[in-house]
Amino acid sequence: MLKNLNDKSVLVIGGSSGIGFATAQMAHEAGAKVTLAARDARRLAEAADRIGGPLATREVDLRDDASVAALFDQSAPFDHVIVTASQVKIAPVRDLPLEDAFASFESKFWGFYRVARHAAIREGGSLSVVSGYLANRPVAGRSLMVAINAALEGLTRGLALELAPVRVNALSPAMVQTEMWNGLSEADRQALFAKTAESYPAGVIGRPEDVAAQLLLLAASPYATGTVVMLDGGASLI
Ligand SMILES: NC(=O)c1ccc[n+]([C@@H]2O[C@H](COP(=O)([O-])OP(=O)(O)OC[C@H]3O[C@@H](n4cnc5c(N)ncnc54)[C@H](OP(=O)(O)O)[C@@H]3O)[C@@H](O)[C@H]2O)c1
Repeated sequence: MLKNLNDKSVLVIGGSSGIGFATAQMAHEAGAKVTLAARDARRLAEAADRIGGPLATREVDLRDDASVAALFDQSAPFDHVIVTASQVKIAPVRDLPLEDAFASFESKFWGFYRVARHAAIREGGSLSVVSGYLANRPVAGRSLMVAINAALEGLTRGLALELAPVRVNALSPAMVQTEMWNGLSEADRQALFAKTAESYPAGVIGRPEDVAAQLLLLAASPYATGTVVMLDGGASLI
């Protein structure tokens, strides 16, 4: 199926790190013409170097409507746009300052909404976003993420109708071993990963490439739209 991506243009917003980086790397290996986008130019250039080959990079801040509009105004339409970018703070509702809660929604939900408003995508192409299993399986202390991911999944289903024939899909992972967790010390991070893996029915947490492969299948499959794929090691069952 990924051979459908050969020669297609694929934009990965969030491509300098984690799930986005793995997605960009796998799309490149499948023969796609990949553009990496995120805020930090240096990290983008390093990511492009690590992947190797001719890759375009673009700076964009999903919190800024003009920045998102400029990204698409200054590019030819893409075949596939994949959004993995976000920066969120997680804390119980009563502990998290309201401005931090707003900033989290601004980044992850409104960021994708802005992409949906501005993205130029060729017919037969697709738009995908990463949500998260908390939408299906709330956990105390993470209500804000429950709400952001649920809102994204609702938006995905609505957009699948509004933007048709462009296909719109979401992928919902539980814990994935990415740089997102680098705020923890190495010891705390490894302890968290091990404890979480043990608690999941699959016995493992996700690797970025697990999620990347599913994101690219959603892009490559002409049959996939309005879909929310849960790929979470069984986390939403416990
Ligand atoms: N990792 C997990 O355990 C996990 C679990 C469930 C869901 N998710 C979701 O999966 C998605 C990807 O996570 P990840 O682990 O791959 O994260 P990550 O490693 O922290 O990567 C985030 C990427 O987004 C970019 N970014 C952040 N804010 C941006 C903005 N305002 N505008 C443009 N680019 C921005 C970052 O680059 P710059 O900072 O340079 O902009 C980076 O390239 C996120 O939406 C996350 O909520 C992750």
